[in-house]
Amino acid sequence: MRGLFITVEGPDGSGKTTQIKRIKEYFTVKGYEVITTREPGGTRIGEKVREIILDKNHVEMDNITEALLYAASRAQHVAEVIKPAVESGKIVICDRFVDSSLVYQGVGRNLGVALVEGINQVAIQGIMPDITFLFKLSPQIGIQRKFKQGNEDRLEREKLDFHQQVYEGYMQLETLYPQRIRGIDASKTIQEVHEEIVRYIEELLEGRG
Ligand code: TMP
Repeated sequence: MRGLFITVEGPDGSGKTTQIKRIKEYFTVKGYEVITTREPGGTRIGEKVREIILDKNHVEMDNITEALLYAASRAQHVAEVIKPAVESGKIVICDRFVDSSLVYQGVGRNLGVALVEGINQVAIQGIMPDITFLFKLSPQIGIQRKFKQGNEDRLEREKLDFHQQVYEGYMQLETLYPQRIRGIDASKTIQEVHEEIVRYIEELLEGRG
């Protein structure tokens, strides 16, 4: 049986990493084989691309270059990890996927969602998540958290206005794809957020029979 492809999206600092660990535990206890991964990155080549994209010194990076690099990392990730794993029945939980490009590059960088969708079409080979958890948290709070931790990357250093636009882009995506995207109030406690996610996963599993 085909596995599941789950993605987690949202502003920087919205607590995705903690919840991804919890989702992994949930499936592992139930006896599923689970892979957790991330974008940009997730493969040896993708992690190198990640370093190029997020390097704080790369201030001159062109917006189209940035969009293509994210798509390049994604192409390798889909071909090497996501597609084979899902086809062999595994659960793949991915921290960010094409939705991030649509909102960060399409909306935040103003390239337009259609253009970014086009760039990514060839990279994703028709693979889209079965379900996407969208963590909703004011971008102001998320970015403050990141700066407190120190070592914020090139994207996180963008002005609050950029992050606000990204957030609005996410809200639009949620309206466009209500079947796939589940909005989660990320200001709730870790346990509350986890329980909400589990409810959605159980619904999805029941639907598959
Ligand atoms: P991370 O910190 O969640 O690992 O993501 C790295 C940064 O890259 C984050 O600020 C979001 C951004 N990003 C994009 O701009 N476009 C993309 O396609 C992806 C996957 C991430």
